[in-house]
Amino acid sequence: MKKKYIIGNWKSNKTSAEVEEWFIQSKDVYEREKNSITDDIRIILCPSFIHLKEAHELSRKYNLPIRLGAQDISPFGAGAYTGEIAASQIADLVEYVIIGHSERRTFLGENETLLTQKTEQVLKAKLIPIYCIQDEKTPIPEGIAMVAYEPVFAIGTGQAETPAKANEIAQKVRQKRKVDTFIYGGSVNPDNIESFLTLGEIDGVLPGGASLTPALFWEMIRNASRT
Ligand code: PGA
Repeated sequence: MKKKYIIGNWKSNKTSAEVEEWFIQSKDVYEREKNSITDDIRIILCPSFIHLKEAHELSRKYNLPIRLGAQDISPFGAGAYTGEIAASQIADLVEYVIIGHSERRTFLGENETLLTQKTEQVLKAKLIPIYCIQDEKTPIPEGIAMVAYEPVFAIGTGQAETPAKANEIAQKVRQKRKVDTFIYGGSVNPDNIESFLTLGEIDGVLPGGASLTPALFWEMIRNASRT
């Protein structure tokens, strides 16, 4: 069965108490609505590193069908790299790692060389990179099977890309190389999620702002289940 991905990117948001509150509220929503969530939906949540363990435990405690991802990773392995978090250190908590988000490219100056190193580390730890591209010309390193198209103008602005254009970018990328999973991100919300998932080339979405509120997050999942 082809899966539909809903990947929540929390960015630098939430305290530990707020993470707990998100899960408590999610438990209630999920209990009420689990019958309207189809088996083809794959839910991935990407909290900050410091909250991965808590999210892992709360997800298990409340029996939520949530897998975890990291928002970034060290370009190095374990060792003397102060402040960095190696893929091997979180491999028991996450299955996915976002690489190359435009916020990191812009605010932290991440370049293609660094992003290729990060990709290699993630693959070495047997995790799945979610590789962000800003347009169809963004280079994609070897070994990437999951690509997220995230046009900068659409991130956090409430102005999503048109589904037709996102679908076209997916086609263009797939003409150039084999991509198993193509994701769209940028102002996804419960009202527009279905329009991205029904065009054929887009396998999932990566909402930021709308993933922070449990009610909106689960509404997106419910709506995605209808497609
Ligand atoms: P947004 O963020 O949904 O808040 O626009 C998307 C992203 O940056 O992944």
